[in-house]
Amino acid sequence: MKRMETKILKVSPRYPEVDKLKIAAQIIKRGGTAAFPTETVYGLGANGLNPAAIKKIFWAKGRPLDNPLILHIAEINELGALVKEVSFQAEKLISKFWPGPITLVFKKSFIVPDEATAGLDTVAIRMPANSIARMLIRLSECPIAAPSANLSGKPSPTKVEHVIADLLGKVDLIIDGGDTPVGVESTVIDVTRTPPMILRPGGITREQLEEVLGEIRVDQMLDLKNGKPRSPGLKYRHYSPDAQVIVIEGAPKNRVKKIKTLLREKRNQGLKVGVMCVDETLKMYENIPNVLSMGKEKRPETIAPNMYNCLRGFDLKGVDVILVEGISERGMGLAIMNRLRKAAGFNVIKV
Ligand code: TXA
Ligand code: MG
Repeated sequence: MKRMETKILKVSPRYPEVDKLKIAAQIIKRGGTAAFPTETVYGLGANGLNPAAIKKIFWAKGRPLDNPLILHIAEINELGALVKEVSFQAEKLISKFWPGPITLVFKKSFIVPDEATAGLDTVAIRMPANSIARMLIRLSECPIAAPSANLSGKPSPTKVEHVIADLLGKVDLIIDGGDTPVGVESTVIDVTRTPPMILRPGGITREQLEEVLGEIRVDQMLDLKNGKPRSPGLKYRHYSPDAQVIVIEGAPKNRVKKIKTLLREKRNQGLKVGVMCVDETLKMYENIPNVLSMGKEKRPETIAPNMYNCLRGFDLKGVDVILVEGISERGMGLAIMNRLRKAAGFNVIKV
C-alpha cells in the first residue's frame, strides 16, 4: 500500500466533542484506521470484525501476522457475543477492574475473525477507561481491534507526537487526546485456565490481582531470552529505541557506580550516552549531561508514564547508548522491568 493522507483531530480528553468523534467513527465503520488515546498507551484502531480493516493495522505497524490483537469494547453487554463463556474468575476481574488497564483472554466465539486472533481459538478483550476511547467505540458500533499505535518493535506511544512520528501517512486518522496517564500497556491475563495466568504484566498489578483472585500464575517465559511467552507479542525484540539499551540492576549505589564506569568507557569510544535513573539517585549524577529521571522508584506508577518518552527522547537527541537503572519489581515495577529488559534485548547487567 502507498502512503496516504492522515488527518489529525484534537479532541478534549475530559469533554470529548461528539461531532469530532463521529468523523472518527465514520472512518472505522468504513473499514479505515484511526489512532486514539486510551488510559494506558495510544492504540491503532480498526473494526475488529472486518478482516480487511484489521489487515490495515498490521500493514501500518509492520506487525508480524502471528501476533494477535486486543478487541476493545465500551460496555459489558458487548462481551457475550465475542466469547464462548465467562468464568466466575473472569467475572470477578471484570466487576473489579473494568473499565481499566486489564485485558482478559477468553475462548473466542465464531464471529471473531482469525485475522484478529492470528488464528488462535482465544480472543483478548479489554474495556478501556478513557472517555475518548469509550465514545469512539460506542459511535463505531463495533468492537475496535487496537494494538499500541507504534511501529512494530518501537516503544509504545504515550504522547500524540509519538504516534505522529511512527504512523503519519500510514493511517487515516490520528486523534490527539493528550498524554496517556498510566503509560504502560494493560495487563494480559488468561482466564481460560485455573488459576488464571498473567501473560503480560501491566497497569493492574500482580498484587491487585492476587487480592481479588487469591492464587494466580505468572507466565515463566516472560523474561526468558529464548523462551516462547504465551503472549505472542512478547517474543519479539520490542519497545526498543534505535539506540542500544543496557539495563543495570542492583542496589541503587551499585547501579550508579556501574553506570558511571560504563559511561566513561562508552564516551572514550566516542559514543554519545544517555542515562535513565530515578528521583532517588538523580543527585548522584551531578554535572553529568544527558541524565533523565523516570520518576520515583518508591512509586513505580510515576515511572511508567515517562519511560517510553525517555527512550524516544534520547533517540531524538542522537544518543548511541542508553544506560537504564533497573528498579524493584514490586507493584507496577514488574511491568516496567518487563518492558525495559525487552527494550534492551535482554542486555542486562546485575551488580
Ligand atoms: O494497553 C493496551 O493493552 C494497549 C491499548 C491500545 O489497549 N494495547 C496493546 O496491544 O498493548 P498490543 O497489540 O500492543 O499488545 C497486545 C498483547 C500482545 O502481547 C499479544 O500477543 C497479546 O496481547 N494477545 C492478544 N491476543 C491474545 C491471545 N488470544 N492470547 C494470548 N495473548 C494475546
Ligand atoms: Mg504493542
